Amino acid sequence: MKTALITGVTGQDGAYLSAFLLDKGYAVHGMRPYAPLDDTANIRSVMDHDHFTLHTGDLTDSGSLMRCLADIAPDEIYNLGAISHVKESFHAPEAALNVNGGGTLKLLEAIRTLNMTDAVRFYQASSSELFGNAPAPQNEHTPFDPCSPYAASKLYAYAITKNYRNAYGLHAANGILFNHESPLRGEEFVTRKITRGIAAILAGKQDHLTLGNLDAKRDWGHARDYVHGMWLMLQQDTPDDYVLATGQARSVRDFVETACAHAGITLEWRGSGLDETGIDTKTGHTLIRIDEKFYRPHEVTHLCGDAAKARDTLGWTPDIGFKALVTDMMNADMAANGVDLSHRNDDNTDHVYTLYAAE
Ligand code: NAP
Ligand code: GDD
Repeated sequence: MKTALITGVTGQDGAYLSAFLLDKGYAVHGMRPYAPLDDTANIRSVMDHDHFTLHTGDLTDSGSLMRCLADIAPDEIYNLGAISHVKESFHAPEAALNVNGGGTLKLLEAIRTLNMTDAVRFYQASSSELFGNAPAPQNEHTPFDPCSPYAASKLYAYAITKNYRNAYGLHAANGILFNHESPLRGEEFVTRKITRGIAAILAGKQDHLTLGNLDAKRDWGHARDYVHGMWLMLQQDTPDDYVLATGQARSVRDFVETACAHAGITLEWRGSGLDETGIDTKTGHTLIRIDEKFYRPHEVTHLCGDAAKARDTLGWTPDIGFKALVTDMMNADMAANGVDLSHRNDDNTDHVYTLYAAE
């Protein structure tokens, strides 16, 4: 039985990857930092699996990494742990560097110190944020242009991973992943904020949704497809770096419109800039407002990936398209908010949103 260690196991990708590897017959060891409150909601479905073990460890703490590695002796390590919110990294840039950059170095050094270099394969969660505002489409040859402390910290992690591959022969791969989402996506990321917000409005729990830059474009895929790509990278004889992407970019505005359409709402945009609003054409209610505080000091405006190398070498292509992604997220958030669209009453525009809520 193969053994895998996943850092950042309680995050979106950690949860999907755990389920994927358990399904493949791996023994999965997940690492998460000490948390005073229960942070295992995402991995509840795998926690009781006989071959899943949860460890406390921190990427900023070499001793905990060494102990985890020595105890587990993994065949594969997936380094997903990170401070992953780009906007937050502007507020705490040193923390981003210490966890995302320094943490990766500490993990690589632990592998080397424990003489595990020839025994393990290492996946580094690199990011399309490395490309910043380099012209789209971006692929493995596109020059990096990091536009945030998060991206700068991930650039260090990318480089040091490559360095351990070249200097010490470690089987190490950088997955340069474009945005991928799911019902388990953190609530502070824009896609989940939108699907949760619309579901809460439909349930009568929230009046409107406030967003930042509606025109930023991202290449959004489904996390389920992307964890498969991570695994494929570690099954190759020769380690390398790969972009994973759908090749289709959509704006935040497109995402909002698609999510609303799923709930039968047609939006009309009025005004511009910070005064722009999104109005429900049926009810006249203002559903979307803009606030400057959700903009970043330096915006990344257009990420769209070219994953030809992953397709040709790994045989990886994403199965879940944009509309299916939005549908999956909307259905999960509507169910969580008790919204049942069959309760809709199109003739009644008074308190229309509470009418969607199931009894
Ligand atoms: P996520 O949901 O934010 O999960 C990140 C995980 O890292 C959380 O479980 C977090 O634990 C953990 N973590 C934070 N600080 C840590 C520390 N000091 N030591 C150990 N673990 C720590 O992120 P995700 O979306 O699953 O993404 C997984 C990885 O892929 C991240 O490295 C991210 O930067 C990268 N990535 C993501 C995307 C994407 O679109 N999702 C795209 C490209 C790259 P707590 O919650 O307890 O803090
Ligand atoms: N979070 C957020 N909240 N973003 C907003 C909002 C808002 O209210 N309004 C507009 N946006 C815009 C952001 O300005 C950005 O251009 C875009 O929506 C996507 O933002 P996020 O969902 O926060 O993701 P991200 O692209 O910055 O970063 C994610 O993807 C990276 C890969 O490209 C994260 O998962 C990173 O960890 C990952 O590396």
